[in-house]
Amino acid sequence: MALKITVIGTGYLGATHAAAMAELGFEVMGLDVVPEKIEMLRRGEVPMYEPGLEELLRRHVAGIEGSSGRLRFTTDFAEVAAFGDVHFLCVNTPQKHGEYACDMSYVESALASLAPHLRGSALVVGKSTVPVGSADRLAAYLAEHAPAGGDAELAWNPEFLREGFAVQDTLHPDRIVVGVRSDRAEKLLREVYATPVGEGSPFVVTDFPTAELVKTSANSFLATKISFINAMAEVCEAADGDVAKLAEAIGYDDRIGKKFLRAGIGFGGGCLPKDIRAFMARAGELGADQALTFLREIDSINMRQRGRMVELTREALGGGPFLGKRVAVLGATFKPDSDDVRDSPALNVAGQIHLQGGQVTVYDPKGMANARRLFPTLGYAETATDAVRGADVVLHLTEWREFRELDAAALGEVAGARVILDGRNALDPEVWRRAGWTYRAMGRPTA
Ligand code: UDX
Repeated sequence: MALKITVIGTGYLGATHAAAMAELGFEVMGLDVVPEKIEMLRRGEVPMYEPGLEELLRRHVAGIEGSSGRLRFTTDFAEVAAFGDVHFLCVNTPQKHGEYACDMSYVESALASLAPHLRGSALVVGKSTVPVGSADRLAAYLAEHAPAGGDAELAWNPEFLREGFAVQDTLHPDRIVVGVRSDRAEKLLREVYATPVGEGSPFVVTDFPTAELVKTSANSFLATKISFINAMAEVCEAADGDVAKLAEAIGYDDRIGKKFLRAGIGFGGGCLPKDIRAFMARAGELGADQALTFLREIDSINMRQRGRMVELTREALGGGPFLGKRVAVLGATFKPDSDDVRDSPALNVAGQIHLQGGQVTVYDPKGMANARRLFPTLGYAETATDAVRGADVVLHLTEWREFRELDAAALGEVAGARVILDGRNALDPEVWRRAGWTYRAMGRPTA
């Protein structure tokens, strides 16, 4: 009989995983403790912007015309426990308020609600990003709280999806990593990830701590690449070099690779910043803090980029206070193809200039509602053109395709001054310069 799957937590990770599992032909039940979220999902609506996710969901949610009916949602833990053979824990693990450490309370409470109802041979699979050692602890909890006489067990299967590519990354992962303690758990997970998802994806079987560490070390490496190139950008500026050319040239070396070497205002979002901080905090608890002190530097190089962008803006405006200056900001989300503004470098830069008296107007293709909620005192415009109208300087802070396709000449007609600062090194300098703009980017020569 085909496996039945449940997905606990329906944020980015859970909603995508649930829809992908239904796409693969499994019967799936998704659970969230927020009833409004479940109501939306039952209508086939996604609570965030993620390309392709709503379509995928609507193909499978029961009750939607023409759907496969394989995907259902509930708020009831007893119902998912009775339904599923394999339960994926996909809840959030945010940064603790005012601390570096990871807040495990959502994972813990999900397991506490699920465990007493579990059927005998259920497999609970953690997908959330957690501090190393968590799976060991959660397995002990499960052994104690699952119904007596059964053999419910835990496995760890980190998820590497990127926002904006969540569907693609889930259906065609680079690799599948499973931390298991039994052949049975491995066999079940191999069954879940059998074709087409598993096809062509390396399947790495390991222990719990390694599985947990693969995720945090992968994110640390990505963060390191970005901060490395941003450090080079700072040196390029001082030496009159060009960081974009430098990145291209070092990237031809396969051992280095071209990806994640785009200099600019740095990384943000709900993962990289909090994951490297939680990793440092955990290493400290384990007595291995010396090993990760470099991550502190990675974090501080990253945060410094935001301040450097503010100073570049001040310089472009002739120095001195921002008071009375009109600043157009293109981009609010932490990356394109997402409406996520969590720890967004773009909004941080906009907020700093606003706090220093600048008159900031922000436009973003998908992030306006979230940005307005988080930074209600900033100015907002409905189009890029409206944001730029009358501006003394234009900041390009999130690399949406819409901004690369802007008509630089037409925008020049409405701008107060033709000065654009590219905080993402993603626009074509020649296009803007030809249209009469002064183009500047971090780590690149002025002309
Ligand atoms: C990241 C990891 O990539 C993913 O594997 C993991 O599962 C979750 O965390 P995500 O948060 O979606 O995914 O964002 P990512 O695409 O990694 O970008 C992170 C940030 O780095 C963005 O703010 C982006 O603008 C920035 N970035 C990325 C750069 O500044 N330069 C680059 O070259 C690449």
